[in-house]
Amino acid sequence: MRLKRTHNCGQLRLEDAGRKVTLAGWVHSYRDHGGLVFIDLRDKEGLTQLVFNPEAQPEIHKQARAVRCEWVMAARGTVQPRGEGLENPKLPTGQIEVMVQELETLNTSKTPPFEIEDGIKTGEEIRLAKRYIDLRRPEMQKMLRVRHRVMKLVRDYFDRLGFLEIETPMLAKSTPEGARDFLVPSRLMPNCFYALPQSPQLFKQILMVGGVDKYFQIVRCFRDEDPRADRQAEFTQIDVEMSFVDCNDIIGVHENLVAKLWKQILGVDVVAPMRRMTYKEAMDDYGIDRPDLRFDMKLRDITDIAKASAFKVFTSAVEKGGIVKGLCVPSGGEKYSRSDIEKTLTEFAADYGAKGLAWLKAKKENDKVTLASSIAKFFSAEQLQQIIERFGAKDGDLVLLVADAEKGVNKALAPLRCKIARDLKLYDEKAFEFVWVVEFPLFEWNEDEKRYDSLHHPFTAPVPEELHKIDSDPANIRSQAYDIVVNGYEIGGGSIRIHDPKVQEKVFGLLKISKEQAQQRFGFFLRALEYGAPPHGGIAFGLDRMIMLLTGTENIRDVIAFPKTQRGQCLMTEAPSEVDQKQLDELNLRTQKHSHVIEQKTEEQKQ
Ligand code: AMO
Ligand code: AMP
Repeated sequence: MRLKRTHNCGQLRLEDAGRKVTLAGWVHSYRDHGGLVFIDLRDKEGLTQLVFNPEAQPEIHKQARAVRCEWVMAARGTVQPRGEGLENPKLPTGQIEVMVQELETLNTSKTPPFEIEDGIKTGEEIRLAKRYIDLRRPEMQKMLRVRHRVMKLVRDYFDRLGFLEIETPMLAKSTPEGARDFLVPSRLMPNCFYALPQSPQLFKQILMVGGVDKYFQIVRCFRDEDPRADRQAEFTQIDVEMSFVDCNDIIGVHENLVAKLWKQILGVDVVAPMRRMTYKEAMDDYGIDRPDLRFDMKLRDITDIAKASAFKVFTSAVEKGGIVKGLCVPSGGEKYSRSDIEKTLTEFAADYGAKGLAWLKAKKENDKVTLASSIAKFFSAEQLQQIIERFGAKDGDLVLLVADAEKGVNKALAPLRCKIARDLKLYDEKAFEFVWVVEFPLFEWNEDEKRYDSLHHPFTAPVPEELHKIDSDPANIRSQAYDIVVNGYEIGGGSIRIHDPKVQEKVFGLLKISKEQAQQRFGFFLRALEYGAPPHGGIAFGLDRMIMLLTGTENIRDVIAFPKTQRGQCLMTEAPSEVDQKQLDELNLRTQKHSHVIEQKTEEQKQ
């Protein structure tokens, strides 16, 4: 490299006119007008126009004519104002150009498979396979910057509050976070495996026993579950644990962190203290424990009215112990046609398990709102009025109802509510509505396995006054857990933990984890609790989900430099891949393919 850069490609302005500068970057585009040649040179900061004059610099001009897109160049020249009317107001450097006197080709490039531009329609697979090209696009560069800044702000924030960032092992023992583990075979201990951590949960609790008091870590977590739009098998948490605290202390520290991030990155003021909502309220009004509060349209239960009606679909659902619940779409009767409702909306609800979608349109007749529908005949005038009142339905509104077991009804109505709000643009896309969901039940009944499951994880503490129900009425114990939700995304969750080994043992009992199993799986942890564990609690934020919200994408892969596909593949490196036999032998492992080959060989030998 002969020419050393003096400025970046987004930096020069009119006041730099006359300066001698050197820029380096990629050829974004070139225009050859027969006479002058123009090259837009690009780096991570922006674009600057280079000009090549055939008369003043015939050799350099000739060199410039041979240049192609994405070649890597360094250019030295003089900053000059662009000609009258040739300014580009869209570019920060649009007032100037650099008249080049020296040009150095640092590298050539194959033609890239897609444009280095924002908003491209290129299939994601090719973007992932050639991620190094994709990362050159401004929106990807912005994402990398936001992610870096968030991590820096997080570290500064916790540092100032006296937290220590402490690394915990990646080669660990499996801890039960609910997903499948990624396993790593041990070479030195044949037939033994490490698990990659699903979270540092037990290590951070043990750090509290170790007197650390205030811990945080920006940490990679691994869960072998199917990736989704907001889920990756390998993702990053901002993980925190604190001693001698209650729920309010933890909520306070973390809503201030969130407010700081939103202010610094987006300039958005987040009101703290944030709103809180009980789990019950969230499930009743929104059908989900991560409600999107940018719009209202609350769910309402009309089981009492429906069971007195003559509509068989509803009465038989109620007889089976089910409920009838629904929502009222403002002006939905005008916005959705009958076929929209009976096809599009019904099919959408069916995809989420609804057995049907009953509808009623509110209409004003003789100064009174009534409900019109093919099922209206099964309801008395009084019952229809009760439904109108329950939903506060107005002329033009649309009431949609689902009957089923409560769980099923909520499963269908919650996404339907969000879809309708999206369809009808019922909210400001730029708004952020934060809420802490609190007072979760400690346990959830698992019908398949006939036992309780922890709603969060088995180390979550019950509300102390409700602990006495642990033998008689475990389903009605509330936990000291909290989730932070924004716009329908759960961005974080945590709890006060059990610090009494006896309570911890009781909880394992309800989860049908025997004493032996508990000893085998978490013996190390139970032993630590016996040595003066302080009261403690914590939280973990999904960093990737936070960055999604801060950059306005709905695709988690957009906020990770090198993400994996739905099948858990890295299309760039082609991981996962087969390994050499020698590696397998060292690990004492035999793949099914290998076993198959061995079986074939023994068969052949026999013959
Ligand atoms: P939890 O399992 O709720 O809690 O995880 C905390 C947060 O991590 C994010 N998250 C994910 N993000 C992307 N891809 C995934 N597969 C994924 N899974 C979870 C979510 C979630 O809110 N140890 C406990 C925390 C604690 O109790 O302190 C834990 O891991 O945003
Ligand atoms: P059917 O009696 O199956 O013809 O259904 C009559 C109406 O009730 C249709 O609009 C169905 O979509 C609706 N419906 C059927 N089952 C349910 C259900 N479980 N919940 C709500 N509506 C339903």
